[in-house]
Amino acid sequence: MKITVIGAGFVGATAAQLIANKELANEVVLVDIVEGIPQGKGLDMYESMHVLESDTKIIGTNNYEDTANSDIVIQTAGIPRKPGMTRDDLMKTNSSIVKSCIDSAFKYSPNAKFIIVSNPLDVMTYVAQNTTGLGRDRVFGMAGVLDTARYCSFISEELGVSMQDIRGLILGGHGDTMVPLTRFTTVSGIPVEDLIAKDKLDAICKRAANGGGEIVNLLKTGSAFYAPASSAVQMVEAIVRDQKRILPCSIMLEGEYGYKGVVVGVPVVLGKNGMEKVIELKLNAEEKKALDTSVQHVKETIDSAKSLLNI
Ligand code: APR
Repeated sequence: MKITVIGAGFVGATAAQLIANKELANEVVLVDIVEGIPQGKGLDMYESMHVLESDTKIIGTNNYEDTANSDIVIQTAGIPRKPGMTRDDLMKTNSSIVKSCIDSAFKYSPNAKFIIVSNPLDVMTYVAQNTTGLGRDRVFGMAGVLDTARYCSFISEELGVSMQDIRGLILGGHGDTMVPLTRFTTVSGIPVEDLIAKDKLDAICKRAANGGGEIVNLLKTGSAFYAPASSAVQMVEAIVRDQKRILPCSIMLEGEYGYKGVVVGVPVVLGKNGMEKVIELKLNAEEKKALDTSVQHVKETIDSAKSLLNI
């Protein structure tokens, strides 16, 4: 198993180290446009493997030739969101970065699966899929896992119970319009709506939807990276270990939930073949309305990316 991480910044480097710590690959390649950064971080990480008792080989490079024949490519390169900047503001710059990185990586790893992390996530996944011409089974975005992790962690905190007992689901675009599904959220099988009052649960959903912004406002000079990197690695693990996990991922919809040609987060089965199955839930009128709003928002951003990039 060879895994390439494009972007040796906060998210990319953290993801590379987690992959190596968990020995999810024999080889991890960290690639970045800045000379010295991927090499330095890669070497530092490689030297930590002795202490961490992992035999994963890590290299850093500026050359895509070194990424050849990767099984999985994680795309994190891009500029992070700054305070006051929406994910949509990022679209212009990151579209061309994602297009050029994915183009180079795909040339050397035509059989890889591509996990997109760069923001605005749903649009960047669209750009990546369009760049490779691959099916949605091999190009998908990491957003729902992160949004759900934030949501579940707030529920765990509110109830004072283990994180592991919370099972939740967030659908839709990765942004303020995302759709937390409280009706499908349980705490060790107990419906969360029986445990937390509606106003408190609404506040938790709102906080989850603004989870990225909350961190940006605290950090001031960057965006979240521990939870985003961990979330991407959970997707990697599901594929590498063929776990068939049901995780919300951003994929191109082909009629599911009543939408076509738009990339948004829905629950899917992740295994050795990548995105193996889309799970369609029966949504009630209120949930469907919220999903409609989110999809419409993503669709508008995809349309502007399409005209910007001529794709
Ligand atoms: N090719 C390769 N690497 C690039 C390119 C490029 N064309 N352009 C930028 N990079 C690299 C930068 O040199 C930097 O090392 O991408 C890295 C981005 O790292 P950070 O600035 O630390 O950003 P990070 O916090 O990792 O976020 C990366 O993930 O969660 C999203 O919104 C976030 O889009 C952002 C991405």
